[in-house]
This record gives sequence, C-alpha cells and structure tokens, in this order.
Amino acid sequence: MHRTHTCGELRAKHAGENVTLSGWVQRTRDLGGMTFVDLRDRYGLTQLVFNMDTHEGLCLKARKLGREFVIKVTGTVLVRESKNSNMTTGDVEIDVTGLEVLNVSKTPPFTIEDDTDGGDDLRMQYRYLDLRRKPVQRNLMLRHKLSIETRKYLDSVEFIEVETPYLIKSTPEGARDFVVPSRMNPGQFYALPQSPQTFKQLLMVSGYDRYYQIVKCFRDEDLRADRQPEFTQIDCEMAFVEQEDILNTFEGMVRHLFQVVLNVDVPTFPRMTYDEAMERYGSDKPDVRFEMGFVDFGTVTQGQGFGVFDSAEAVLGIVAPGSAEYSRKQLDALTDWVKRPQIGAKGLVYCKVNADGSFKSSVDKFFDAEAQAAWAAHSGAKPGDLILMLSGGLDKVRKQLSELRLHMGTALGLRDPKGFSPLWVMDFPLLEWDEKTERYHAMHHPFTSPKPEHMALIDTDPGAVRANAYDMVINGVEIGGGSIRIHDKAIQARMFDLLGFSPEEAEAQFGFLMNAFQYGAPPHGGLALGFDRLCSLFGGSDSIRDFIAFPKNNSGRDMMIDAPSPIHEEQYNELYLKTTAPDGTKS
Ligand code: AMO
Repeated sequence: MHRTHTCGELRAKHAGENVTLSGWVQRTRDLGGMTFVDLRDRYGLTQLVFNMDTHEGLCLKARKLGREFVIKVTGTVLVRESKNSNMTTGDVEIDVTGLEVLNVSKTPPFTIEDDTDGGDDLRMQYRYLDLRRKPVQRNLMLRHKLSIETRKYLDSVEFIEVETPYLIKSTPEGARDFVVPSRMNPGQFYALPQSPQTFKQLLMVSGYDRYYQIVKCFRDEDLRADRQPEFTQIDCEMAFVEQEDILNTFEGMVRHLFQVVLNVDVPTFPRMTYDEAMERYGSDKPDVRFEMGFVDFGTVTQGQGFGVFDSAEAVLGIVAPGSAEYSRKQLDALTDWVKRPQIGAKGLVYCKVNADGSFKSSVDKFFDAEAQAAWAAHSGAKPGDLILMLSGGLDKVRKQLSELRLHMGTALGLRDPKGFSPLWVMDFPLLEWDEKTERYHAMHHPFTSPKPEHMALIDTDPGAVRANAYDMVINGVEIGGGSIRIHDKAIQARMFDLLGFSPEEAEAQFGFLMNAFQYGAPPHGGLALGFDRLCSLFGGSDSIRDFIAFPKNNSGRDMMIDAPSPIHEEQYNELYLKTTAPDGTKS
C-alpha cells in the first residue's frame, strides 16, 4: 500500500496511529540528533521526524534525500511539542520507522514554493513542476470547481451538453482560423472552430432547445493577458426565448457561481446601452467598480481662443477625486503616460480645483479663473479634485480617456480585485464600418439579428441599426457575449449581402445553415462566456494563463513541448503541402 492518508489529512486525533504516507520531499533540515523532512502532496504538507537515537540508519538515509525525491514512509503519529498554526497538519508529526525512496529527482530548476525564484519562461518550460506549486494548484482547483458548478446549474435547468466537432469549415467570428490540411482530400483544409456558433444554431433547429458545452475554441489572433490561441467557452444556446430570458438565465447562473464558489452575493446586474457606455466611459466594457464618468467639456472650453481645443472634434475629461495635490512631477508623468504610443494622445490638459477655491491649470494662459470655475461647475468637480482633459477626434479621445480613467482608477485604489461590479452592455450596433476594406463587418457575428424595429434602417442607414446583442462585463473584462439570432433565411441572406458576400459565396460558405432555416428553425439566441476569463476573475488575477494547465506564451508557443515545430518532409508530401527546402527553393 502506498498510503493510508494524504499529506494534508493527519490531525491530533490520529495520535498513536501507525500510518503510511507518500509524496515529494519539500525540504530537509538536519539538527544533528534529528532530521526533519516536509513531505508534500496536493493535499498539504506533513512533517516527518527521523530520530538518530532510535533509527540511526533511517536518519542517515533521510539526510541524503534531495528536493523533490518521491518517498514512501511509515511511522507513528505524534502530537508536536511546538505546534505550527500555519499548517493544517501543524499539530502533528510522524516518527518515521520505515523509508522507501520511490524515485529520485534532479534538483528542480526553481524552488517549488509559493514564492518561487523561477522566471516566467523557465516555469513555462517546466510547467509540470510549476503545477506542483500551491498557488497554481489552487487556480486549477478553482477552475475545476467552477466547471462542476456550471454543469450542475445548467443541468438543473434542463440544459444538455452536446459535443460539436473540432474539424470544421471556418466560422467567421472575426479572427483568423487555424487550419488543418486533409490528407484524404488533397488541397483541402479543415478549420478549427473559433466557436461552435453554427452548430449550436443547428442544434436549435434540431429541437435541443437548451444546449451548452464547455468547449475549446481556437483563434489565431494577437495574444494578450486575457487572450490565448486556444481557450475555453461555456457556450450556450436556447430556443423559444427572447433576449430577456437569456439575460435572466445567465445572470442567474453567474450570480449562483459567485455564491457557491466565492460565497459572494452580487446584486442584480445593471444594464447600460452600448451608446451610453461609449459616451460615459469611452469603452464597451467599462469597469464600473468606480464612476469617474466622462464629461463633455466642449461647450465650456471651445471658442475661447485655445487653438488645440477649438480645432478638436471633442474635448472630453474626467474628474479625479481628491487629486488636486498631484505634484508637478506626477502631472508630467501622467502627461508622458498619455503620450506613449500605446495611448497616443498629443497632450494632457489639467486643472487643479484647489481646496482653497483657487484654480491652477496647464492652460492658465488661455483660460482665466472664471473660465476654470465654469469647468468645475460643469463637471461637478469639488475643491481638492483634479480635472484631466483630452481633445481630438471623438473615437480616439474616447479610447485614450478610457485608458486614462482606468489608470487613475488603479492609481487611486478604486479597482479592488475582491470587489465585483457586473454589468450588461446591450443594444450593440449590428455593423461596424471598416476603414481598411471600406465595408461593413458584423460587430458580433453575421448570425446576429437586427432589432425588429430597426429592420427598415438596413437599407437606408445600416450603421445606425442596433442588434439584440449583449455582453456580460465584470470589472472591465468582457466575460461573455451573445445575441438573438436570425432564424429566417431571407434575412440571413440579406445580412450576408450587406457584409459583401455574393449570393454564391454565401451559399458556398453557409448554404448548410440557410438550408436548415428552411426546415422549421425556431426563434433562438444564446451567449458564450469566456471560461478562462471567468476563472481568472474569480481568482483575482488579470492573466488567464495562470488558470490554464498548459498555456501558450505570448508568441503562441508551448515552451514545454516546443510547439509549433517543423514537420517532416514526408508529412508535407502526404498532405500535399508545398515545401521550402533548406536552400530556399520551393517545391
Ligand atoms: P465571442 O467571440 O464574444 O462570442 O466570445 C465569447 C467569449 O469568449 C471569450 N474569448 C476569449 N477568451 C480567451 N482567449 C481568447 N482568444 C478569447 N476570445 C474570446 C471572451 C468572450 O466574451 N459564438 C459567440 C457567442 C454567441 O454569440 O453565443 C462568440 O464566440 O470572454
């Protein structure tokens, strides 16, 4: 038998019992007469004692144990004289009477401790060792708990999990596809799904009116802390529902998850239209843990002789509470921050609303105290506050000021990772104009239905059409999104036409869906939640990587298995792929 108990299990009540434990050597300490070893498994740590007086041979053997050796010990549980309240097993230790080394270990390249000395790359390369660390384990346990509770919840309200294929034809979700060559069909390719969107809609046509799947999706896009090339969705679809039913169902699910997993009660999710979110926060995924909403300063700043503002399409600002004390150095740093290429502002105008009622701004030359008092009155800035303004084209200024708002929110400690502020952002535009290609793109995806009352606008003003499309946003992170779908063949065909598909192209790519719509497609809609993002939100981290067992790095590489990697010449031939020989010639 390898073990009678785990390393996290023994307590004072087990005193006197003869036990067997197996695990990894975390640490050994040799105190002459005694050798102590901390033995670790995924359940915890237990202190082992080897006594030189009573078991000299064992003690000498124990002294030779290296970090991460795998051992099995037998011994008696003793109540410790000096207890360690930091460990769940801290009341006891094992007086070892038998030791077997099950396997040796090379010295690990970094310490397997909560605070490790290993850098990112090294930990990615030896991910199986990193996974032994408590914080990483805790993240994977949280992920497990969330997936179990999600399944339990959805099962309890009649959703069934259906698997959809991974080798498909491309689904246009906006990112690039990963493609897979088909050996049996020379020159043809599968695509890995960016999401199971069309399949879940087909399942609605088939009558499975409540579908879900915790499913891998693949997108070949630029990576960030909250994006991986393969990631997981909680993908859901419902038939015979209105938008309201979908919002209620999944708000209910997420509130339930907060309750059972974190023991946190989150109130009903507020709702905000896309237009309002853009106007108030310059973002379709605003962090509403704090307000600091945008103020339009155009009417109180323009036409007063300051050329930069006068020539700008928009002058927008925020009021940073209690920040009038910012020093010259801090304000210069803030100005440099907005001028970085990542933000791209030309400059920053500030106005201190001083506690004594005076004003000090970076544009005192152009605006007197009376004008600045008008800004304070207009924005509701109180003595002690700091007004920050940016100007330029509306879309750009919104984006830049949104970043500055988040930056100030962080600087002022207003973004508590333990606080949760969810929000539904609704009524997204159906289409988005793409300057590069000079045509409309679907803002969500081409299967999203226009609002019925906006149908007429499709021909006259497509850009103004709003959709029954919604995003679930929590703490400024897009956790999920979805929409009511088109279920009518003619409207779907019109949508493809708007998106620039010829009838032949639409038929070639989506004929299967439009055909299905002719066989009794029910009204339907759904959403997908980013499961990795949900885990990292619950775990209080910005990075989804920490919640994925074997993630890719920012260049899309798996450092451990060293993928992607070249394939053999034979594989190129088998797959009918062209090759480039080492000398550069193509065949
Ligand atoms: P969407 O493209 O908005 O919708 O994706 C749904 C959610 O998936 C998460 N997500 C990602 N997470 C990690 N890495 C990525 N690269 C990544 N891309 C997206 C986000 C996002 O909100 N088929 C539709 C859903 C629907 O309409 O029902 C879809 O995939 O949290």
